[in-house]
Amino acid sequence: MEKIVIDGGRPLRGTIHCDGAKNAALPILIATLLAPGEHRLTNVPELADTSSTLSLLGRMGCPSLVHDDALRVDATRIAFCEAPYDVVRKMRASVLVLGPLLARCGEAKVSLPGGCAIGTRPIDQHLKGLEALGCRFELSGGYIHGIAPALKGAEIHLDMPTVTGTENILMAAVLASGTTRIHNAAREPEVTDLVRFLRTLGAKIEGDGTSTLTIEGVSRLTPASRPYSVVGDRIEAGTYLCAAAITGGDVEVTGCDPALLESTVAKLREAGCTLTVGEQSVRLQRDTPLQAFNARTEPYPGLATDMQAQLMSLACLARGTSRIEETIFENRFMHAAELTRMGADVQHTGRIATVVGVPTLQGAAVMASDLRASAALVLAGLASEGLTEVLRIYHLDRGYHDLVGKLRGVGARIARTSDAITDRSELSAALDAAA
Ligand code: UD1
Repeated sequence: MEKIVIDGGRPLRGTIHCDGAKNAALPILIATLLAPGEHRLTNVPELADTSSTLSLLGRMGCPSLVHDDALRVDATRIAFCEAPYDVVRKMRASVLVLGPLLARCGEAKVSLPGGCAIGTRPIDQHLKGLEALGCRFELSGGYIHGIAPALKGAEIHLDMPTVTGTENILMAAVLASGTTRIHNAAREPEVTDLVRFLRTLGAKIEGDGTSTLTIEGVSRLTPASRPYSVVGDRIEAGTYLCAAAITGGDVEVTGCDPALLESTVAKLREAGCTLTVGEQSVRLQRDTPLQAFNARTEPYPGLATDMQAQLMSLACLARGTSRIEETIFENRFMHAAELTRMGADVQHTGRIATVVGVPTLQGAAVMASDLRASAALVLAGLASEGLTEVLRIYHLDRGYHDLVGKLRGVGARIARTSDAITDRSELSAALDAAA
């Protein structure tokens, strides 16, 4: 297996371009199942999760290829309505096939996703919404087997604004007869991007960006004649802004709409950074010490839980005491213990972490537990004294395309190497070779 090695302490300077958003690309790829024919998509990020989704679609009988800069998915026929355990266990978003398969084929079998590092993550709201539309579910052998002889619009009230839950129900409702209203729907920009894509197929949806989605079912959907471009990744953009902030650098991040980054930008300003917002870019400069801040994760437009770990790394080096509250997932402070191994002062009880800023962090070997926790450890490594080794980087490959190359492009001394290499001089040689 590979690890990332970082020789920290260099301010980052330059420009980093963001790819398309993972959390928009995955539901959009899965939504192609709704419309028979060939779909063309651009700005799809090259990630492990994208490959897993394409291989899942391939197993269902929908092959894909890249041609003329566009990813083409052929959803003419669906031969197999199942998402098996070996795919779902690697990527929870596979559960999104439920809605489209039930709507198009009247049947779906999906391995029930278990808990994961950040919490139990049930899918009761997905099932409740789909049942309201007329689906029936049975659990057997770890699989949810759903049938839907006919889908009929309904009023659905979600207990919480679940992102993939909203998307699953939405994708079934677009082909249901009559009107569906999803109350307390997620307002995340990635849900809005899915709505935009579904509209290009002929779906009738109103209310995107608000907490009530109204869907007027149609009898069939057809692939659009033009390629659809996936929205830029606000979490990737936020992560690179944090990289500039933690190293005291000057970085312009392009390829993402700054309007979608407002809560992160506000927090970085509170932390003492100067941010300049462009049309499709945000520039961050910092030449004064980081200041402590309080942060609370919330559904969009609040601060994204997917930015919490990265902001905690900043707080570790900020002057004063920061309080970070995680309200979305019950166990999303796994990075705290690893940051402590680098010299950070972080205590957490329940959903609240208290971070007392320290003047410096020291490089160490640290273990990534989930995608954004891994990003947080890379950030800490960029600002640490000495060498940091981040292990289990397959998590990072799920959500960041060419993270090492992009950071190197703005001056970081960082490389991927085999995790069998532990000798200091060999690690330095790997960093030199990559430079
Ligand atoms: C999505 C994102 C993930 C992000 C999260 C919150 C994708 C592929 N993933 O995950 O990156 O961190 O939104 O912004 O888009 N819940 C239930 N029952 C349900 C569904 C959810 O209790 O049926 C709970 C969850 O356990 C969690 C909260 O609701 O505590 C929010 O989760 P949800 O919005 O569903 O997250 P995901 O869609 O899985």
